[in-house]
Amino acid sequence: MTVKDIFETMDYGPAPESTSEVMAWIAKYDGKFGQFINGEFTPHHDGFESRNPATGDILALVTQASSDDVDAAVTAATKAQKKWARTSGHERAKVLYAIARLLQKHSRLFAVLETMDNGKPIRESRDIDIPLVQRHFYYHAGMAQLMESELPDAEPIGVCGQIIPWNFPLLMLAWKIAPAIATGNACVLKPAEYTSLTALLFAEICVQAGLPKGVVNIVTGNGAVGEMIVTHEDIDKIAFTGSTAVGRRIREATAGSGKALTLELGGKSPYIVFDDADIDSAVEGLVDAIWFNQGQVCCAGSRLLVQEGIAEEFYAKLKARMDGLRMGDPLDKCIDIGALVDPVQHATVTDMVAKGGHEGEVYHAKCKLPNQGCYYPPTLITGLHSAAYLMQEEIFGPVLVSTTFRTPAEAVQLANNTRYGLAASVWSENVNLALDIAPKLVAGIVWVNATNLFDAAAGFGGVRESGFGREGGWEGLSAYTRPKIASKPLHPVAPVSAPKDAQITGLDRTAKMYIGGKQARPDSGYSTAIWSPKGKLLGHVGQGSRKDIRNAVEAAHAAKGWGKTTGHLRAQILYYIAENLSARGDEFAHRLNQMSGKTGGRKEVDATLSRLFTYAAWADKYDGQAHGVPIRGIALAMKEPVGVIGALCPDEAPLLGLISVMAPAIALGNTCVLAASQAAPLAATDFYQVLDTSDVPAGVVNILTGDHADLAGPMAGHLDVDAVWSFSSTDLSAQIEHASAGNLKRTWVNDAHARDWFGKDGEGREFLQQATEVKNIWVPYGE
Ligand code: NAI
Repeated sequence: MTVKDIFETMDYGPAPESTSEVMAWIAKYDGKFGQFINGEFTPHHDGFESRNPATGDILALVTQASSDDVDAAVTAATKAQKKWARTSGHERAKVLYAIARLLQKHSRLFAVLETMDNGKPIRESRDIDIPLVQRHFYYHAGMAQLMESELPDAEPIGVCGQIIPWNFPLLMLAWKIAPAIATGNACVLKPAEYTSLTALLFAEICVQAGLPKGVVNIVTGNGAVGEMIVTHEDIDKIAFTGSTAVGRRIREATAGSGKALTLELGGKSPYIVFDDADIDSAVEGLVDAIWFNQGQVCCAGSRLLVQEGIAEEFYAKLKARMDGLRMGDPLDKCIDIGALVDPVQHATVTDMVAKGGHEGEVYHAKCKLPNQGCYYPPTLITGLHSAAYLMQEEIFGPVLVSTTFRTPAEAVQLANNTRYGLAASVWSENVNLALDIAPKLVAGIVWVNATNLFDAAAGFGGVRESGFGREGGWEGLSAYTRPKIASKPLHPVAPVSAPKDAQITGLDRTAKMYIGGKQARPDSGYSTAIWSPKGKLLGHVGQGSRKDIRNAVEAAHAAKGWGKTTGHLRAQILYYIAENLSARGDEFAHRLNQMSGKTGGRKEVDATLSRLFTYAAWADKYDGQAHGVPIRGIALAMKEPVGVIGALCPDEAPLLGLISVMAPAIALGNTCVLAASQAAPLAATDFYQVLDTSDVPAGVVNILTGDHADLAGPMAGHLDVDAVWSFSSTDLSAQIEHASAGNLKRTWVNDAHARDWFGKDGEGREFLQQATEVKNIWVPYGE
């Protein structure tokens, strides 16, 4: 027997972790858990079983929360939050630091419990999940400490309802709770029904760390409990991680409630291998991309795209690697692949492969499957076309699907051919190619020659139907804070109605809309008269409709090259707009005075000029960041335009309001479809003459007129609009948030609150943030 033979035939000896500490902890509660409300464990009631998916054994009984339980948790959180928000950043930092330390001290207990409850290999819970949990609390202890000095204009949102999935039970808890409590919020968190136990162990840590009662509450149960949280009227913000289907329901359920919302949803992330990649590394990367946590990872590299010339060799190496993966008892330290979380998930994966596998060639790894438990073999399906069922749907299991591509352009096209936009991996030894591709991928995270890297310092989250909002990094904090604004209630500004016996004298003038750089008649064929308060007819404007929105969105899309221009160019154009507006300042002031019947026109024109300067200034200064992440690399947090922004402009300040919305959008590379002030639209229709003379490319700014209530629905429902903002003096928040659920676009609505457009609330970082997405590109760097 040669040494090679010995290596090939030698089996691993089992090296399982002991379960005794975990069983002793469960026994402390007699195997029956209540919930953690107002700093105490409540008695167990109406339980359901929590099982170990690797063995099928019942681990414990967990409580199904009643609506009284949810009420009690929200009441405790509301009371605690007020006091917690008044503590100093340093006081909060000390508590977060204590939590981080305690998590370290009990790390093995947490890791073994997580593995028993979820089925993931102990190697992962011990070396990845739990250390990342600790890191999150350390990092956010720092954020608490720095909040007063670095975010002086931010305040906590209030009580946060947090609903998390079962794939990274404790890590998702950390992502939700750490930033929330660091910034002075209180939480009501619901773990997923399959995996509640580490959240309950975490509750013990909160007590030991001296977290005041009620700041963190854990309620347990199924989706019905999630719904109770989502619809609870005393909750100010919902943070959800889970399936896109449930995310969409939550968007609809919270529409118009005034609740802040972040959604971290599904994905079908591309894993792109170019022919000049280091093939062995790329194969090894796939083990982490799709077989990490049995593929139950929202950002799993589940769609393999290989360049044609190397495909055969690559698949052969991949299959050989798959056959070498070890599957079995997740508590065994030598195991690569553990159990799926539950028989239900096993059935879902099995059914999906049965439904779509025949469209390609299915290869199951030859690794030994345990006799019992929820195991599914690592699987590769090749030869699928891009629109195939399994290429489009999230499987959420250890199943990799694949196709080939010929050119870099085709790789980008295939990669972006998905309704999701969470993550992507690019493998190439050519730095030019990799960094050329990264910005073209529609995704919140891109890993270059790597995959599934996470860190508290780098924001995580997606675009499109992968949701909105980021977790981690500075940008993650904005999900748990809001700007301190002295808000006033919104008052609808009604158009001036026609005087009795109105007579039209002089030449009738109908201002057209402005679409794709050209004046456009309303498709409806209707127009509305605009009167001055003194009874003078000032002109007519078209009544915009769904078709005008469609045309304007098409024009805005066609102009998306604007996003690739330099900040310097966009700054110059904004200055140029200001210059041309200034030249006609008196005329605009007069128009504003005519429409308002007051004399504030000049002041509004001057404020508008200043606002244009503000965003000309920002256009080349709102930079990204390079995060120092603790791996051999950096995460480049790049600010990208959101895309096409639809906005209903304020009525209170018809010119200043229009520019306050348009300028940040275009400064940062977006194109926009603006519904001018409904009550006083003529300043906007005059304004497009200024755009025409200021080198603004056609389609970058499109201006519609008409009834906001008619335009809001089609704008928010349009699948090619990426974000909708509403500052209309009519509160259209519910309508917009509801209609936006279709493609889960970002929304920014006023929830019946008015802004002072002349004051500092009318401009600044909040606008810049809303006009950008942060893409984190992880790049190898240094030793
Ligand atoms: P899910 O989205 O139903 O569950 C996630 C969480 O939401 C759980 O805590 C659940 O109790 C809660 N929930 C369920 N319905 C709710 C509702 N109407 N209102 C409020 N909360 C609600 O995910 P599930 O059923 O566990 O898995 C189904 C599929 O979802 C998976 O096969 C996978 O494709 C996908 N999924 C994706 C995740 C991701 O991170 N992208 C995470 C978990 C599941």
